[in-house]
This record gives sequence, C-alpha cells and structure tokens, in this order.
Amino acid sequence: MTASLEPAGVNTRPASRVTIVSGSWKTPSKTRALAEALVSELALRRPISVSRVDLAEVGGQVAGLTSREGLPAETAALFGAVESAELLVVGSPIFKASYTGLFKHFFDLLDPAALAGKPVVLTATGGSDRHALALEHQFRPLFGFFNAPTLPTTLYAVDADFRLGALVNDAVKDRIGRAVAEAVRELDRIAAEVSAPVGGRTGAAPSARDIGPWSTATPTAHLALGTYAREQSSS
Ligand SMILES: Cc1cc2nc3c(=O)[nH]c(=O)nc-3n(C[C@H](O)[C@H](O)[C@H](O)COP(=O)(O)O)c2cc1C
Repeated sequence: MTASLEPAGVNTRPASRVTIVSGSWKTPSKTRALAEALVSELALRRPISVSRVDLAEVGGQVAGLTSREGLPAETAALFGAVESAELLVVGSPIFKASYTGLFKHFFDLLDPAALAGKPVVLTATGGSDRHALALEHQFRPLFGFFNAPTLPTTLYAVDADFRLGALVNDAVKDRIGRAVAEAVRELDRIAAEVSAPVGGRTGAAPSARDIGPWSTATPTAHLALGTYAREQSSS
C-alpha cells in the first residue's frame, strides 16, 4: 500500500507521507488516474512516500462498517494511512452531483478530530463540467467539518480529458502544477514545524490550532468541532 518516490538528485529531506483516498467503485478509474497524476508531479518536487486507499479495491472492507472497533489489521491500516498522512489527496467520481456514498462512508468512520490541520488536495472526475462546483459545495465543506485546510486549487476532469486512461488535458495539467506548488508549501511548513524546537512542540503533528494559510474553515470552525466532540463524549 505504501511506496517511496524520490526525486532525482541529492535530497536529504525525509520523505513526506502522502495518502491518496480514491472513491470510485471501479478499476481502472479516472479519479484514481487524476490523483496519481498529481502525486507523480509532487514526487518530482519532493521526496514522498505514498499510501493508497482505493475504495474500488478495498471498499468491501469498509462498506458495511458502523464502528472501527475490532477491525482486522489490514482494514485498520486503511484508516491509519489517512490519520498518519502529512498530506491527503482525496478524489471521487461525481455521483448524483456529489462524492460517492462509499467515499463519504469512509470519512464517516474517522474521528471528528482526526484530520485537524492536515492539508488536503480536493480532486474529482465527472461525466461533464456541469458538476465541477461540487468540489466547492460538497467536498470542501466536508473537510471544513474536520478542520482540515483544503488547498485553494482543486482538480476536476471529465471523461474527454483522458485518453487510454491517461490525463491529456493541458488546462488540467496546469492546475496540477498549481496544486503541487501549494502542496509543497504546506509540506515545507509542516517539515519546518516538526524540526524547529518551538515552545517544546518539536515533532508534534499539526493540530487544530495549526491551521495553515489555505484554511477555508471559518474562524469558529474549531469551536464547532469542539462542541461536536463534547456532544459525542457526553451522549
Ligand atoms: C451512479 C453514477 C452517477 C453519476 N452521476 C454523475 C453526476 O451527477 N454528474 C457527473 O458529471 N457525472 C456523473 N457520473 C459520471 C462519473 O462521475 C464519471 O464517469 C467519472 O469520471 C467516473 O470516474 P471513475 O472512472 O473514477 O469511476 C455518474 C456515474 C455513475 C456510475
């Protein structure tokens, strides 16, 4: 599930942990191809290790779950790959004007605080351009709930943007370049935080207070998250 990708040349930086979550039902998947295109570009800029949660392959392990308790190690590792990532690349085909139910169900099984401060690249594919704004109206709010800062540049591609399963649209490729530049800035910020001994927080994972410059969460989103967490624990 995990592979290391090192850019050519000397680079002593530790690899950043990147996890792709792809919400398609089927293989091969244009959604997965779009996320992979972005991660391949990112690998040219930075050493990364990539984990993949491809719901076309592992959705059967997730679909019927209503709890994370007592999961087999293989299934628990899917959630672990998301929770331990420094950068998430999430993608789903548009189904009925939103992400797939399987994609949402996977994230429903995460703790509300599990993604706080974790940068997320939003990607989707659809049958037409008509539902491109689902990224803004459906995907972005989901990660706002988690207090996970979503990068400004989203990626959306349609069937015609692929040939033999590979992305061929130059406009989408340009957007990949922009999203990668934003992702590199976020990973650099996280690496600097981890290595800098600031206030005794050396090595700390980003928390809800570490929301970066790309956050689309409202200033009170973390309060809402706190309220939700309290309600959960008192019920
Ligand atoms: C059940 C279903 C519902 C769909 N609903 C939409 C939709 O509302 N809007 C849209 O643009 N495409 C819709 N599509 C088309 C898919 O989003 C599109 O083919 C997508 O690229 C498939 O991605 P994949 O190759 O990763 O599975 C739908 C496809 C299916 C099977």
